[in-house]
Amino acid sequence: MNKNNYTIGVLTSGGDAPGMNACVRAISRAGFMEGANVVGVMNGYEGLINGEFKNWRGARDVGGLLRKGGTLLQTQRSERFRTKKGQREAIRSMNEASIDGLIIIGGDGSLNGAHALAEQGIKVVGIPASIDNDVWGTDMAIGVDTALNTIMESVDKLRDTASSHARAFLVETMGRDSGYLAVQAGIACGAEIVLCPEFPTTVKNVAEIIEDAYKRGKNHAIIIVAEGATIRTTELARKLDELDVGFKTRVTILGHIQRGGSPTSFDRHLATRLGIRAVQVLLAGESDTMVGLRGRDITLAPLADVISHTRPVNMEYYNMVRMLAQ
Ligand code: F6P
Repeated sequence: MNKNNYTIGVLTSGGDAPGMNACVRAISRAGFMEGANVVGVMNGYEGLINGEFKNWRGARDVGGLLRKGGTLLQTQRSERFRTKKGQREAIRSMNEASIDGLIIIGGDGSLNGAHALAEQGIKVVGIPASIDNDVWGTDMAIGVDTALNTIMESVDKLRDTASSHARAFLVETMGRDSGYLAVQAGIACGAEIVLCPEFPTTVKNVAEIIEDAYKRGKNHAIIIVAEGATIRTTELARKLDELDVGFKTRVTILGHIQRGGSPTSFDRHLATRLGIRAVQVLLAGESDTMVGLRGRDITLAPLADVISHTRPVNMEYYNMVRMLAQ
């Protein structure tokens, strides 16, 4: 393959994740090093359909990106791209702009789209980026570590006020259908209990745990609730107050603050390594694959496998929270 004529298109799709920009920078500079052209696709799949392309001339065009949160390419969840018609339009736009291969940075929905394009003959490499960490085929997705640090800092602050007033704080984390962020935060923040979709529990059980913590003389309690948990956070707080568990409750829904901020060192490294590897893989002629992190190594997983599995949440980690809440 003549790399000097090769044009790589790069897009970010789905929810933004800290480290997406670092990844775009790595892809662009690795591409330039190989003599390829790199084109930024604005607004995810929507921009691919509309032909919203940004032609970078060189490394300077992607300078200053390493430490920036969000995504300079912008992102969207495109309904149009879910249809055959939308995909056909996207392929047409790509061909008109002479884009030879695509690198798609995003979560499971975005990788689904990547596989759909690959099935229609487009050269595609996926990179997992989603704070939810629900993408199968990688230990960590880009953005997860930064989001966890944001949660940890927030809960540490909430603990100060919780202890001062002897309150139980219910902190809701993002993650859509995954309890990964909640469980990891539960360990890192010393929660009494985590509520998550994978391991459902009852209000009665939570009430007993919190009342027991009160009786043992604790001056606060932290309950982490994944947004996908079977019990809604505000509803749980109301019921705990009704049951009179000792502590009065307060609710904090962390929301989109978890998606923002400058990426941690871990996310910058991960984004850089995945970006460089994606370029190498694409220029080597491979397609329909995702680069990911397994242990310390960057590995490949077929997109068909990635999108047909969900990354499970570790039960051992879930149990650790209860074990250490003494
Ligand atoms: O997938 C990332 C995520 O932040 C989820 O955790 C959350 O459920 C969802 O996106 C929120 O989406 P939106 O930004 O469209 O409100």
